[in-house]
Amino acid sequence: MQYAKAVPKTPKKIVEKLQQLLAHSYSPYSGFAVAAVVKSRSGRLYGGVNVENAAYPLSRCAEQSATLQMVSAGEREIVEVWVMSRGKQPATPCGGCRQVLSEFAQPNVSVHCLSAEGLELHTTLGELLPHAFTSQYLDGPGKK
Ligand code: THU
Repeated sequence: MQYAKAVPKTPKKIVEKLQQLLAHSYSPYSGFAVAAVVKSRSGRLYGGVNVENAAYPLSRCAEQSATLQMVSAGEREIVEVWVMSRGKQPATPCGGCRQVLSEFAQPNVSVHCLSAEGLELHTTLGELLPHAFTSQYLDGPGKK
């Protein structure tokens, strides 16, 4: 995995929000804390963390928590994404999260992956999930 040394690319305000969120991660089973922030079209920031469950498959990823917050607040377009995880290497969103993000984000949306130790990987949703399956393939009314 390629990752770059920290560059002052992520605004301090976002880094601090991610750090605060990371402390709220509920991850007693994996011990792997993840926090995510999505910026909506209105410019508002929505945060989320991974929330695990004793019934493991019911655990929720941070990117999904943040996306659900945005949709619950009445917004439907993500324009930028940040993810922070513990450890040295910045983790990229899992496959399921890439799909959930792609429901509300265009392929050119930037996804910034940060490690708690200060390394960053900057990519786009289209690079993470090429040839995404979207509502355009569905017959019928599609996205409302
Ligand atoms: N996790 C996330 O929150 N986001 C991802 O994209 C990758 C994985 C969480 C799920 C689980 O709580 C922990 O990290 C270990 O897999």
